[in-house]
Amino acid sequence: MKESLEALEQSAFSEIEQAATPKDLEGLRVKFLGRQGTIASILKEIATLPPQERPLVGQKANTLKERIKSQIDEKLKSLGSVPGGKMPREDATLPGASWSTGRLHPLTQVIQEICDIFLSLGFRVVEGPEIETEHYNFDALNIPKSHPSRDTFDTFYLACPGESESQARDDKWLLRSQTSTVQIRVMEKEKPPLRIVAPGRVFRPDAVDASHSFMFHQIEGLCVDRDVRFSDLKGALSLFSREFFGPNTRTRFRPHFFPFTEPSAEVDISCILCDGKGCRVCKQKGWIEVLGAGMVHPNVFRAVGIDPRRFRGFAFGMGVERLAMLKYGIDDIRLFFENDLRFLKQF
Ligand code: PHE
Repeated sequence: MKESLEALEQSAFSEIEQAATPKDLEGLRVKFLGRQGTIASILKEIATLPPQERPLVGQKANTLKERIKSQIDEKLKSLGSVPGGKMPREDATLPGASWSTGRLHPLTQVIQEICDIFLSLGFRVVEGPEIETEHYNFDALNIPKSHPSRDTFDTFYLACPGESESQARDDKWLLRSQTSTVQIRVMEKEKPPLRIVAPGRVFRPDAVDASHSFMFHQIEGLCVDRDVRFSDLKGALSLFSREFFGPNTRTRFRPHFFPFTEPSAEVDISCILCDGKGCRVCKQKGWIEVLGAGMVHPNVFRAVGIDPRRFRGFAFGMGVERLAMLKYGIDDIRLFFENDLRFLKQF
């Protein structure tokens, strides 16, 4: 019995020494120390020995068990494994963990860029609420009660449980359909001179497609002072177009109508893709419409208590998604809202 223990020690140690992988060692652990392993069968045999020999052999077998165990652990360590663990502690050949930094959403970047241009012209950035009333979205902006933009095909009205009938009838709650609401909010509180830009979300019940979304962003501009002229509006917007789209961009003002400005204009830029020659993007016109603008209507001034004989102003409003799509050649507005990292990472 004693001899067989010694022989076992010899063969176990040399097998452990020769093991090349943690897996080999695991095999040896089972073979020698497992429940059906060599040591276990020796311990079972002890019962067949004469009683006086049993304690000594038992002791020796147990010591051997411990020694094999620590030998295996040693060897595991030298192979780079944690005893009992499954994975190597470190593998210098693995690629390093890379840290990817986040970035601002392309629309946020464009809003900041546009606001910066107007900040350089002395404008200030303000914000207004997205939930508004008819007063701010329509009435104070000189939009007549019969105007089509007021119907439910063009404006989201809010059902307000708990609100009294008369309140609901007089001045309904809605999601603002334009940032022009902020003009009113600012002029109500502050006296001219005023120069503000107001970026924010607006909502219209449009069916979603490549160029429409029920939610998009606008930036409103307003400048009020004693001697503000249409030429100031032209100057500011021409400068804006050159700064935003590039130094060769030309601007064109076409007569238009908005209830809150008089005169009003739609503003086109020379096509940034074909430089005015005509292409698919400008539909062969050479020009692309980018914003609406005009001189603040006297009725708007009256609605906020500013005397239209003493003050004049210009206002403009632009769609952020549209400008961003033109500048970056994006052909589907939905890309902005799907949050696909493959899209977002390009900005
Ligand atoms: N509010 C207008 C729109 O949403 C844009 C605009 C703003 C036009 C200010 C003129 C002056 O279409």
